[in-house]
Amino acid sequence: MTAAAMSTGSSALLGVYRPAGPVFVAGEGCWLVSEEGDRFLDFTSGIAVNALGYGDAAVADAIRAALDSGVIHTSNLFRTRPAGELAEWLVEHSFADRVFFCNSGAEATEGALKFARRWARAEGHDDRTDVVAFRGSFHGRTMGALAATDRPAYQAPFLPLMPGVHFATAGDVDGVKALLAGGRVAAVIIEPVQVEGGVLPVPPAFLRALRAMCDEAGALLVFDEVQVGLGRTGTLWAHEQARVTPDLMTVAKPLAGGLPMGAVLLTERVAAALQPGDHGTTFGGGPLVASAALAACKKIGDPGFMAEVRRKSHEMANSLGALALSNPRVRDVRGAGMVWGVEVEGPAADVVARALEAGLLLCTAGSNVVRILPPLVASDDELRRGIDILDEVL
Ligand SMILES: Cc1ncc(COP(=O)(O)O)c(C=O)c1O
Repeated sequence: MTAAAMSTGSSALLGVYRPAGPVFVAGEGCWLVSEEGDRFLDFTSGIAVNALGYGDAAVADAIRAALDSGVIHTSNLFRTRPAGELAEWLVEHSFADRVFFCNSGAEATEGALKFARRWARAEGHDDRTDVVAFRGSFHGRTMGALAATDRPAYQAPFLPLMPGVHFATAGDVDGVKALLAGGRVAAVIIEPVQVEGGVLPVPPAFLRALRAMCDEAGALLVFDEVQVGLGRTGTLWAHEQARVTPDLMTVAKPLAGGLPMGAVLLTERVAAALQPGDHGTTFGGGPLVASAALAACKKIGDPGFMAEVRRKSHEMANSLGALALSNPRVRDVRGAGMVWGVEVEGPAADVVARALEAGLLLCTAGSNVVRILPPLVASDDELRRGIDILDEVL
């Protein structure tokens, strides 16, 4: 066992991850600090979670105040203020009328799929149980979410998964129409940007076409904004840019400032089908996480903050565009706001490993796409520095 493994007890952790690099003991803004005192510029944001970077004062204050109350958890048998206030904030700032809180992105996917089936039954369609998902999709690792995730290698060891999921191709209107024609589809689920699938923005016109097709077929439209929701693409919700709203939306990663939390946002039309006892989760919307989330949401949702994200996103688009033109190892650059994919010659994992040695934390999105997810609070200097390191490494 290495000294690092001994000091962190990591040999006792289930081997489903292969964590790289040093042991991190501190963080500040966009930087993580190792046990040895080395500083790393973090362009992963804990996989799109740390939108406000490390040590955000508003989130820390909210957590401290929640701790001081002594009430970390009550369960949903009882009422507490933060969950209600957070739900009201989300309703005021979205298409939704109701919110269900849970603990992760995958759990939000499960909730959305269950709510869609419950709604179809309430409408008298007992046979409307199927789901249309898309090639390149990622919705989580639990049985229902994995069934809607287009990753045969992730699925194979765990078959059989939830039945009735059909995969269509983003952009293929006729393909979706054919799947909906059978009248068995309860929900169509899509990420406005397929980040895990290689940072693939879905054309806005296709999102609008899905809205029209779902309405015609009597199916619900679910947008998975777990990775791109809450400011990542330059608007509070990615789907705003397509001028279309879903019936349900899943949100998670950046929602609670680094604490685990997910949410399903719904219209009243769908919510009306859900009765007490239909669904539940012990920890969902607890006062500690909801307090942190309210602080994070208020900060991210501030119009000035979002304007700054949009300004920086243009800078990123320009710098990465220049990188694509000047660096022969770059095949393509694509993304939106502050989530970008750089498609490279050869394995992206090699680029990520070399960047780590150079002090820049990156991750992959598929075998040859390097994923860039800086905290939304990154400064112009930090963004330039990270992209310069990537250019050198490439
Ligand atoms: C679009 C999307 N949906 C769902 C999930 C699952 O979220 P979690 O890992 O919190 O279960 C992810 C995770 O990467 C995601 O990117």
